[in-house]
Amino acid sequence: MKILVINGPNLNMLGVREPEIYGTNSYASLCAFIEASAAAFGIECSLFQSNYEGAIVERIQQAYGAEDAIVINPAAYTHTSVAILDALKAVSLPAVEVHISAVDERESFRRVSYAGMACEKKIAGLGFEGYREALRYLAERYGGK
Ligand code: DQA
Repeated sequence: MKILVINGPNLNMLGVREPEIYGTNSYASLCAFIEASAAAFGIECSLFQSNYEGAIVERIQQAYGAEDAIVINPAAYTHTSVAILDALKAVSLPAVEVHISAVDERESFRRVSYAGMACEKKIAGLGFEGYREALRYLAERYGGK
């Protein structure tokens, strides 16, 4: 099974940005964690990070016919981007929304998720572990296909 893992803006700054919220581990260590988790589930995973909304839209479009599912942390675009929501709906792939922090326990604007309207599951507040949970969920549910 092939899974695309997308990380949105400022997640390349993990380890530096607000460590009290996002932890002290870097984006590179997140990538290593996701790759090791995917390998353990027999998943072929492709990682993508961008600070640009349009680049994320284009990468989602490229997944059509090429990947089987998507794990996405749209970061701040979660709360603003109808374009990312529409791209997820356009490709119609099973998708899981992940957030490192507990978005529902923070500012009220973080409780709104546009991307989440096209995702079948949301995992928030588990740190890096949330990505592994998302991969496990997708592998168990769709891995046989
Ligand atoms: C985030 C939560 C978002 O509200 C925030 O804008 C981010 C990261 C998370 O992983 O907890 O950049 O998606």
